Amino acid sequence: MARITAGIASSHVPLLGVASDQGKDRDEYFGPIFAGYDWTRTWMEAERPDVIILVYNDHASAFDMTVIPTFAIGCGERYKPADEGWGPRPVPDVAGHPDLAWHIAQSLILDEFDMTIINEMAVDHGLTVPLSMMFGKPEKWPCKVVPLAVNVVTYPPPSGNRCWALGEAIRKAVESFPEDLNVQIWGTGGMSHQLQGPRAGLINAEWDNSFLDRLAGDSDDLRHIPHIDYLREAGSEGIELVMWLIMRGALGAAAKALHRHYHVPCSNTAIGHMVLRPDNGEGFDMSGSDRQRSATP
Ligand code: DHB
Ligand code: FE
Repeated sequence: MARITAGIASSHVPLLGVASDQGKDRDEYFGPIFAGYDWTRTWMEAERPDVIILVYNDHASAFDMTVIPTFAIGCGERYKPADEGWGPRPVPDVAGHPDLAWHIAQSLILDEFDMTIINEMAVDHGLTVPLSMMFGKPEKWPCKVVPLAVNVVTYPPPSGNRCWALGEAIRKAVESFPEDLNVQIWGTGGMSHQLQGPRAGLINAEWDNSFLDRLAGDSDDLRHIPHIDYLREAGSEGIELVMWLIMRGALGAAAKALHRHYHVPCSNTAIGHMVLRPDNGEGFDMSGSDRQRSATP
């Protein structure tokens, strides 16, 4: 059966894509940001996921005011990088996994999550920047991707509680897929940032770090943070963090942090990154660098 073996949280600042594409990722400004992902890149080489369920948000690239799906799942074969105003990023196309994606769509919809099914769309920095952070600049992305797009751009976004519950349903869907697949789930966007208005530039390191503290462990209190708290504490774009809760919900009751990185600032944004392992106390039977550690309390 397919299994979710790890969850990854990461910011998606578009400037990081520019830094990667222009070879500036180790300069004075970007060096400390990218260095926080070195551990993950090495770990990923041992993990070798087959598929990533990549929870992200589109920024008016594939969708706009004409269509605003709350939750959408990509069931296509391929996705091209979007043109966000400066031409598409020079990164590989993203290969989908239609069989797994359709299976997840069916399971979620029959579980009463009314997903929008997308067969064709371009993917913007929300999806391609996390891929660059985790994999660098390969000729081809090393695994398939099931894009899961969440509306966090136009009010109202889904609640944190609904996102967490969607994650739980995704885990159930993955575990009922008969093929042996090593599946990761990524939650992207955040951390605190506000791009417009009188509070533009807002960053709240204390609140972000408390969020990171609470992402690991066996508490689910993050799911109950109301929208207004994200807006007050983490800024208008801090609401992107609800997407991390889909990832966290998919890891089960307890999760263990394997790696954590926080850096301020990057562009207008606080960078947060965490690698998590589901902590079900049973250990893992798939080969991998540190799967055994997940069994220890
Ligand atoms: C920035 C951050 C974002 O999340 C985004 O989507 C666009 C820009 C920024 O900090 O510049
Ligand atoms: Fe964003």
